[in-house]
Amino acid sequence: MPLFRSKEREAEQVQVDFDRLPRHIAIIMDGNGRWAQKRGLPRTAGHAAGAENFRTIATYCKDIGLEYLTVYAFSTENWKRPAEEVKAIMGLLKKYLLEAIGRMERDRVKMEFFGDLSPLPQELQDLCRRTREISKGYDGCQVNICLNYGGRDELLRAARAYAQDCVEGRADPNHLTAEHFAGYLFSRGVPDPDLVIRPSGELRLSNFLLWQSAYAEFYFTDVLWPDFSKEELHRAIAAYQSRSRRFGGI
Ligand code: IPE
Ligand code: IPE
Ligand code: MG
Repeated sequence: MPLFRSKEREAEQVQVDFDRLPRHIAIIMDGNGRWAQKRGLPRTAGHAAGAENFRTIATYCKDIGLEYLTVYAFSTENWKRPAEEVKAIMGLLKKYLLEAIGRMERDRVKMEFFGDLSPLPQELQDLCRRTREISKGYDGCQVNICLNYGGRDELLRAARAYAQDCVEGRADPNHLTAEHFAGYLFSRGVPDPDLVIRPSGELRLSNFLLWQSAYAEFYFTDVLWPDFSKEELHRAIAAYQSRSRRFGGI
């Protein structure tokens, strides 16, 4: 039965069936720079607003009972940006994780990181490990933060690790299955995303979850990430719920 969870939405008639939520939503958190530019602010102010919005949306996803949320926070290509901007993003991530650690007992959100953390500032790497360690037994929503993540990088790493296992006799290439290969990805153990959302008007994946999004439903919107509200999320979920997923069948 369609349910309305907020008064504003009742007015706009966006129907979300909270009993039929996607299990896993993935978001490309894009548009921070343009959000700031529109306001005559430095790009870093956009990243700060984006981080704040991530807090709001992640909390909301936990509250409505979503099982998995994966967000693209920093790509393997984002190192091309000016050093000052990269530094500001790393600082915001650090601030976010410190606050998340403070709230962990209460939130019981399980946090994971997809990507090679080793080029990140040591302090940030340590915070990621701590966050993962503290929350690993939690059974609430699982939030995966993609940091220095790239779909191709993930696939190359998996291929290398798999080849190594073949060389050392732990795997037999004649018996490789998709399920087995998925076990070498950063996302091992996490079901594929059902819904991939990209705000900011760009119509591309930008190297996000290439393997995992094979049968995801996509939702694109011109809204910039810092403005992507709970209502926007409702719109995305409602669109998802209106789709017919056939997975190649009829
Ligand atoms: C997304 O916002 C944040 C990161 C990629 C780290 P952008 O910084 O890409 O914002 P736009 O696309 O320039 O507006
Ligand atoms: C994708 O956004 C990466 C993140 C949101 C972290 P980008 O802004 O880097 O992507 P492009 O450059 O527009 O493809
Ligand atoms: Mg961008």
